[in-house]
Amino acid sequence: GRVGVLLGGKSGEREISLMSGNGVLEALRSKGVDAHAFDTGLRCPTELAKEKFDRIFISLHGRFGEDGTIQGLLELLDLPYTGSGVLASALAIDKIVTKQVWISNGLATPEYEELTATSDWNAVVQHLGLPLIVKPAHEGSSLGLTKVKSVDELPAAYKLAAGLDKKVIAETCIIGDELTCPLVGYGKTAEALPVIKIIPPQANYDFHNKYFSNETQYLCPTGLAPEVNAAVQELALAAYKALGCRTWGRADVMLEQKTGKPYLLEMNTSPGMTSHSLVPMAAKAAGIEYADLVLWLLGQTVP
Ligand code: DAL
Ligand code: MG
Repeated sequence: GRVGVLLGGKSGEREISLMSGNGVLEALRSKGVDAHAFDTGLRCPTELAKEKFDRIFISLHGRFGEDGTIQGLLELLDLPYTGSGVLASALAIDKIVTKQVWISNGLATPEYEELTATSDWNAVVQHLGLPLIVKPAHEGSSLGLTKVKSVDELPAAYKLAAGLDKKVIAETCIIGDELTCPLVGYGKTAEALPVIKIIPPQANYDFHNKYFSNETQYLCPTGLAPEVNAAVQELALAAYKALGCRTWGRADVMLEQKTGKPYLLEMNTSPGMTSHSLVPMAAKAAGIEYADLVLWLLGQTVP
């Protein structure tokens, strides 16, 4: 059938989505799939109804792509699509609601609070300690993120994040290894792929170091003890199931140096598929090539 690859979109991660989507498109075509790009940032998504697609590969990141809105439209159009459904997508896009779901399931995530213009900065620092992380609740790829090292930096960090999002989160910065764990499947059949350890230059895994730096090192296998890897995979899988994710996802995790304990940062329900992205890297370590991964994901569309 005819496959639509949704890419671009209008979130802050548009540029990344174009890279992911073009990779996916090329992979599908290399496998003989009749795949076509549809940029939801350039065309009104309701035009999808006219395209006569049989199914959809979602390669959108962030708002209006990873957040349940496009998923809702595709449900209405009766078009099968890759990835999580409306509810899991909407939960996972919101870093605060995500934490609330995880905490209620007994899963470890750093201490946090929602920031507002009237927050008491000293009280925030007292609660969360320093350094702390401030970020928009609904962005990805570290957009609008600040690592705050003193209370004086907090107002500017809030302002930066609030410029991108109505909801802003502050959380305790966990000092330790930056890890990520891809998940695939749904419910009982869900499983974790190999964990990746990320070593960015100057310990700063920001937008640039995520996509454009060749100095960021990725270790897969991580080199961590097998029981540590297993604990991270177990936590990531529980996080995925708690949100009700489907097809695939990627849990970002910090492994605290002083305790050896893993903490969940967030769940990406439409993970990056760029040349620097992590899910393809973990799949490769598990013996699955990029194009085969893409084809498998497409096969997971739910009618
Ligand atoms: N938010 C980016 C696309 C990722 O998680 O890969
Ligand atoms: Mg993210």
